[in-house]
Amino acid sequence: MMHADVVIVGTGHGGAQAAISLRQLGFEGSILMIGRDSSPPYERPPLSKEYLSGEKAFERILIRPEKFWQDKQVDLMLGVNVSRLDPAAHELSISGGEPVTYGSLIWAGGGDARRLDCPGGYLDGVHAVRDKPDADRLMAELAGGAKRVVVIGGGYIGLEAAAVLAKRGCSVTLVEMQDRLLSRVAGEDLSRFYEAEHRAHGVDVRLGTGVECLVADGDRVAGVTLTSGETIPCEMVVVGIGIVPSIGPLIGAGAAGANGVDVDEYCRTSLSDVYAIGDCAAHANPYADGAVIRLESVQNAHDMATTAARAICGDPQPYDALPWFWSNQYDLKLQTVGLSMGHDTTVLRGDPASRSFSVIYLKEGRVIALDCVNAVKDYVQGRKLVEARASIAPELLLDTETPLKAML
Ligand code: NAI
Repeated sequence: MMHADVVIVGTGHGGAQAAISLRQLGFEGSILMIGRDSSPPYERPPLSKEYLSGEKAFERILIRPEKFWQDKQVDLMLGVNVSRLDPAAHELSISGGEPVTYGSLIWAGGGDARRLDCPGGYLDGVHAVRDKPDADRLMAELAGGAKRVVVIGGGYIGLEAAAVLAKRGCSVTLVEMQDRLLSRVAGEDLSRFYEAEHRAHGVDVRLGTGVECLVADGDRVAGVTLTSGETIPCEMVVVGIGIVPSIGPLIGAGAAGANGVDVDEYCRTSLSDVYAIGDCAAHANPYADGAVIRLESVQNAHDMATTAARAICGDPQPYDALPWFWSNQYDLKLQTVGLSMGHDTTVLRGDPASRSFSVIYLKEGRVIALDCVNAVKDYVQGRKLVEARASIAPELLLDTETPLKAML
């Protein structure tokens, strides 16, 4: 039976950073990372951007060169699924092998792409964009001549994929069930701006529309029938309708949680010596007024990884990192900071027509978040406003002649 002082499940940003942080903090015990993915840890955001467009080869999106893991004595067990956790025995059951025991466990399982729950959802030609094999399959079909694509879901996956596909000359229809894009994460101003941009790039954006079923031609998808009754013919479908937290073995072992596994401010689950980090970890976030949320971002995975590593190394420090996020679509760089949920006022700073502007979100007079489009200065300076929860008059925030840092 194999044993490691720390076993990390998941080889995404969170898992990789947990191993890196442990070594940076001087942890000398054995570390084993177990991942379903058969590739060494790589960055996920480029999968729907530069990797999908072919601008970046796989080697350029590796989180560290392969040799790094050997040098740091981090063992990788790749292409392996963890099916069961026995918290009393500190033991994991894995696919095709002997059980693995741990001193401490860091669960960085992330989430699985949510599948379309309608007839035809599993046909050939229907793709998620969550891991490298997903992106590789999609790229192979594009190279094979797929031209008409229906993208389902107007979140970041759907929008970034639509931008890449439109740029390479595909005819793209984007279907979003809500009445605006990015409704889960952004305010109305940003939604309307991105809608206009995608339309200007030739994407046929359909809002307030769900999917009734996918139409088959043999085993392959040949069209998408919308809830309106219309069928859109296509050779390929890209599905970006959110994720389902990957926490089965934890919940099966009795860990507290529902939408994600519950963790405290040190990323500890209710099971002893078991930590959870990243997309799957439900935590009370100080930038959401202490509301229990899951944050699906690289920043959160990274910072929680460091929090768990510190706790394991005997130097616990509560998680209170400032949330940030980015998205690239066409020549637009969106950078967001803070969490806009619960805002009662928005200020549009700058003119969207200039394609450089920011949306500032306030709650009870205090700045809680910014969405900055091609506005790096606002983003950098706005971080300070969010950290300070600065109380600033909306009229002042509107004034683009005054830098945000001067308003603190
Ligand atoms: P999402 O939850 O952000 O968006 C899903 C969208 O699909 C929502 O707008 C929802 O209303 C819509 N939807 C759900 N069911 C639908 C249906 N049956 N028909 C039509 N529309 C439907 O999830 P998304 O975009 O799949 O992203 C997954 C994760 O990956 C998120 O955590 C996201 O933040 C992350 N991500 C991060 C990126 C970055 O770092 N820039 C880029 C892309 C994704």
